[in-house]
Amino acid sequence: MTAIAPVPTLADTLRARRERLAALINFPVVLWSGQSRSRNFPANTYPFRASSHFLYLAGLPLVQAAIRLDGARLTLYVDESTPAAALWHGPTPSRTELATAMGADAAYPLSELDEHLDGVATLLVQDETTAAAQLTERGLVNPTQDRALADALVQLRLTHDDAAIAEIRKAAQVSVQAHRAGMAATQAGQSEATVRAAMEAVIIAAGMTTAYNSIVTVHGEVLHNEHYHHVLQSGDLLLADVGAEALTGWASDVTRTWPVTGNFSPTQRDLYDLVLAAHDACIEMAQPGVEYRDLHLLASRVLAEGLVDLGILRGAPESLVEQDAHAVFFPHGIGHLLGLDVHDMEDLGDLAGYAPGRTRSDRFGLGFLRLDRPLQAGMVVTIEPGFYQVPAILQDPQNRDRYAAVVNWERLAQFQDVRGIRIEDDVLITSTGCEVLTASLPSQASEIERIVKP
Ligand code: GLY
Ligand code: MN
Ligand code: MN
Repeated sequence: MTAIAPVPTLADTLRARRERLAALINFPVVLWSGQSRSRNFPANTYPFRASSHFLYLAGLPLVQAAIRLDGARLTLYVDESTPAAALWHGPTPSRTELATAMGADAAYPLSELDEHLDGVATLLVQDETTAAAQLTERGLVNPTQDRALADALVQLRLTHDDAAIAEIRKAAQVSVQAHRAGMAATQAGQSEATVRAAMEAVIIAAGMTTAYNSIVTVHGEVLHNEHYHHVLQSGDLLLADVGAEALTGWASDVTRTWPVTGNFSPTQRDLYDLVLAAHDACIEMAQPGVEYRDLHLLASRVLAEGLVDLGILRGAPESLVEQDAHAVFFPHGIGHLLGLDVHDMEDLGDLAGYAPGRTRSDRFGLGFLRLDRPLQAGMVVTIEPGFYQVPAILQDPQNRDRYAAVVNWERLAQFQDVRGIRIEDDVLITSTGCEVLTASLPSQASEIERIVKP
């Protein structure tokens, strides 16, 4: 009989992560989870999200907790729930139960942490109260060690273990269902908010939350549009960038663009198919060792070629990309790292996104690239090419001048029913190539039309 390998517990996964971290550093580490911010009175708070570095090593989304790591040894610092808190929030697991779940070697009240902060490295959490305490009250400024800790965590979190990938898969599947629901709920005369509600309902019903503020808009040219008041008109394209986050914090990030009526117009279809061709070319090429920057340039070249074929750009595609003419219509990078955050580890600036010695380009067509590293098995990245008609770019006198000879403005005017198209999938790099974790959500125009049509 074949032996069935035991499923690793949360404690097993966290121990393996601590052991990998311990192999990279030789100093103790304290990581705080952070705390929620009040809206107006203390009990009315903004939604709490634990720091991702804490989540990576503590596994549980605890409020006002900290962990100390000494080699592979884990100590949890958290207060027991008070009777008053239990009255309002119900019973919560005891400190001992939490410590057992995460495989901690010891657990103490949070106040005892103050005695154990000498010589520790840390990373600042996002909430200002905890960050201020990290910096001042505790006197925890040790830039050299903190930087070494950041480097080590980047090294670990760049590629994902099986437990992380399983959670990203769960989030991705819920996002796929949310997008199907959004397509099915789309109807002329309804508002963007109605479609957003249908999509987020799926995420909420799955016990998850959104990994970022949803974008559900007929104005896809506003790249991070967070307004939902427009009424859907027949003839509009609706761009939905909506991603679920698992309870454990692991994220997904998915965009589809569909016609409100269920039928792309010929001009919309031309540009949609072009964005899809750029998307598919990148996925075809994604494998270990390939430079992510080259995927961005590949997408840029495919877009430039297609825009020449459609008569919107003039010239040789290679040369158009060198002039950044593609960026007039594709003014962002091809994607980013995905993990415990939607733009994973961008709390550390470009430390995770850019390989040592590399820095952002000041080129219009490359400066927004968020990831410039060779791909490695175990990375999850997004692939998200787009085409947008951004008034601020198209009407900018400098751009009009710079691209006067290469953009056919009269021809472009014939495509005015396309304001923004983006197609975004989550891609796991495997040892031999890649796997699209969101592949069960169709991206072919004809399949999308089928789902949208009543
Ligand atoms: N959802 C944000 C992004 O795609 O980067
Ligand atoms: Mn993205
Ligand atoms: Mn997105």
